[in-house]
Amino acid sequence: MKLKTKDLLTLSELSPQEFTKLIDLSIKLKKDLKKGGNKPLLKNKTLAMIFQKPSTRTRVSFEAGMFQLGGHAINLSSHDTQLSRGETIEDTAKTLSRYTDCIMARVYAHDLLEKLAKYATVPVINGLSNSFHPCQTLADFMTIKEKKGKFNGLKIAWIGDGNNVCHSLIIGCSLSGAKISIATPKGFEPNKAIVKESRKSTDVDLTLDPIKAVANADVVFTDTFTSIHNRDPNRTKKFLPKYQVNQSLMQHAKKNSIFMHCLPAKRGYEVTSSVIDGPQSVVWDEAENRLHTQKALMVSLIRA
Ligand code: CP
Ligand code: NVA
Repeated sequence: MKLKTKDLLTLSELSPQEFTKLIDLSIKLKKDLKKGGNKPLLKNKTLAMIFQKPSTRTRVSFEAGMFQLGGHAINLSSHDTQLSRGETIEDTAKTLSRYTDCIMARVYAHDLLEKLAKYATVPVINGLSNSFHPCQTLADFMTIKEKKGKFNGLKIAWIGDGNNVCHSLIIGCSLSGAKISIATPKGFEPNKAIVKESRKSTDVDLTLDPIKAVANADVVFTDTFTSIHNRDPNRTKKFLPKYQVNQSLMQHAKKNSIFMHCLPAKRGYEVTSSVIDGPQSVVWDEAENRLHTQKALMVSLIRA
């Protein structure tokens, strides 16, 4: 499958059909890997990975994924490149396009990625920006497909900060037909334009009440209150104790509901250990699925 878009920066570049096909391809690649290995679909291809921010899952799953498909990945911490000495993103994009077949970047400002994509002649993948985390959403929906078998008609709850991961999840809901109910403190709501656009395709409910958001939910999500770009520890006071996912909140969701978190988690803050380490949690499958969805994404973006 080849995607129509050159780059994946937000997820809204995909049609609902492409989104579903990417999830299906991810499930196939996972099966193939477990049966003995993937075909070398990206033999002799190279991925450049630019990191302005730290990462465990994104870094390792892209690099391992490239290796499993017969390709190679180069890790470029932005401190170690000429970006740190003021070389422009335009010139970096043009240079990397002469050596590599795809660029994945984790950045602060989202418009840096837009510039990178504009000047790169190879595909650019968003490995997280302050505004979006599309690769996370692909893995999240693959996990939901594995656990629930469908998207349409599901109720997803998001509790906590209306952040980058939340934005991409909202777009994922609009592509899949799942409904989403988001509970945040006042002032921490997701971006209005993303909510407005997504409401054209699905129900996006905003509330201050976590119990209302979780009521009868099939999937309950949360994320840290202190993202890499929002590290002020004083933020935490605005969320606790009301917006913590704990066993008493989970009791309002469906009995067979699952708990998801992009990780890294701060146990005792946005989620208790009893939930994240408990029987409803699927966070390790969710983390694993980053590997499979990113492989599907690279196979579908990188030109033969
Ligand atoms: N979920 C996620 O993107 O994890 P990392 O920050 O470890 O890459
Ligand atoms: N919202 C978090 C996600 C980390 C994967 C952050 O941006 O730091």
